[in-house]
Amino acid sequence: MSRSAHPAGPRHADVLPEGHYSAPPADLNTLDPKVWAQTVTRTADGVVSVGGIDVKALAEEFGTPAYFVDEADFRARARAWRTAFGQDADVFYAGKAFLSRAIVRWLHEEGLNLDVCSGGELATALSAGMPADRIAFHGNNKSEQEIRRAVEAGVGRIVLDSFQEIVRVAHIAQSLGTRQRVQIRVTVGVEAHTHEFIATAHEDQKFGIPLAGGQAAEAVRRALKLDGLELIGIHSHIGSQIFDTSGFEVAAHRVVGLLKDIRDEHGVELPEIDLGGGLGIAYTSDDDPREPHEIAKALTEIVNRECEAARLRAPRISVEPGRAIVGPTAFTLYEVGTIKPLDGLRTYVSVDGGMSDNIRTALYDAEYSVALVSRTSDAEPMLARVVGKHCESGDIVVKDAFLPADLAPGDLIAVPATGAYCRSMASNYNHVLRPPVVAVNDGEARIIVRRETEDDLLRLDVG
Ligand code: LLP
Repeated sequence: MSRSAHPAGPRHADVLPEGHYSAPPADLNTLDPKVWAQTVTRTADGVVSVGGIDVKALAEEFGTPAYFVDEADFRARARAWRTAFGQDADVFYAGKAFLSRAIVRWLHEEGLNLDVCSGGELATALSAGMPADRIAFHGNNKSEQEIRRAVEAGVGRIVLDSFQEIVRVAHIAQSLGTRQRVQIRVTVGVEAHTHEFIATAHEDQKFGIPLAGGQAAEAVRRALKLDGLELIGIHSHIGSQIFDTSGFEVAAHRVVGLLKDIRDEHGVELPEIDLGGGLGIAYTSDDDPREPHEIAKALTEIVNRECEAARLRAPRISVEPGRAIVGPTAFTLYEVGTIKPLDGLRTYVSVDGGMSDNIRTALYDAEYSVALVSRTSDAEPMLARVVGKHCESGDIVVKDAFLPADLAPGDLIAVPATGAYCRSMASNYNHVLRPPVVAVNDGEARIIVRRETEDDLLRLDVG
């Protein structure tokens, strides 16, 4: 490949260092629909738009960096999950992926339930009008205060995570003169990530109660005895960014085994089974996630088959997708600042955000894609590393990606698939202000979480 004529001299597609990237795409201007939200498109003038508004106009109005959520896409994905599982199952959106009051309203309107895992998430859900009986409350160390608030509000279920919690929730419910619907979270000895799962020895973690050694059976025994609790089912969550259902298959087999033991010991058939979340999305063109209807079909078949073999009535299934609903619906828009070509290596492209708005690359070595969105370019591909403005060399947003070699300060670039675990894990490191979340739909854009200000920072600083 020949060298670019760009004065800064970035080229590199001819000298590629080691990294996690495929060959440069044939055309850098093409947006792969796999990784971009549904209404994202490149308009005739070359500028990318979402929900009918181009990113230059969005940057002008809302500034950068900013997250833009395609509301129509979010609603469509939520609906697809709801429809795929039908009336005999429940879909709980996992609020930890990203939660705001607008999101709660959209979920409510689309008929989804909500999984929360802290007092803050619960407060957000309730303040936006999610009916309490459609909320599930999770967490491995819920405080007494959080539990009390959840029970008082009348949440549909609390997912019990430890022996202490069984007693604590029962006691609080009884003191409030009520019976709390609960599930017990078990660890089934399966841990799944992306394409792989390991079916042994993953009880070595902080969540849930192990099936191994009869601990989960003992938890059930205790829960069934307590007046303050109504045990409605068993919960299992096996991992994140999972692309195939084999891990769920093993998990369902083991959970149904427990349901059978419970039936045999107590004469009780628990009516529900929750298989958790963790379904993967496409961060780059190399990822091939499955559609909600395929996942629903596979999970329902697995549970029904296992129950039939155990001669159990099939329980009502619930799932808790977070990433798979919100992840693909948003992108982060950045303005390009400093550009540093390092000869024979790659070009460092600095943006006006970084690890404070997307910690996933630094934390998990996550892979993302990126595109120039404020214009098209016919320049050669250059191997780029998109980095932030933080005082840390691990402050990387996109580790290895191709951008056009004529990229210049002031250009807008966007990182797709940042709807999940980016704003929700954002920080103020270096006192960088957290970006806003803007919902775009049908030619209208509105802020759903505003940009943080220096006043916000200083308001907390009361010394
Ligand atoms: N249910 C339970 C009990 C969970 O612990 C989780 C995620 C979910 C559902 C939703 O999982 P999802 O469908 O969104 O993968 N911060 C990490 C992910 C941590 C997930 C923790 N639990 C990341 O950025 O990849």
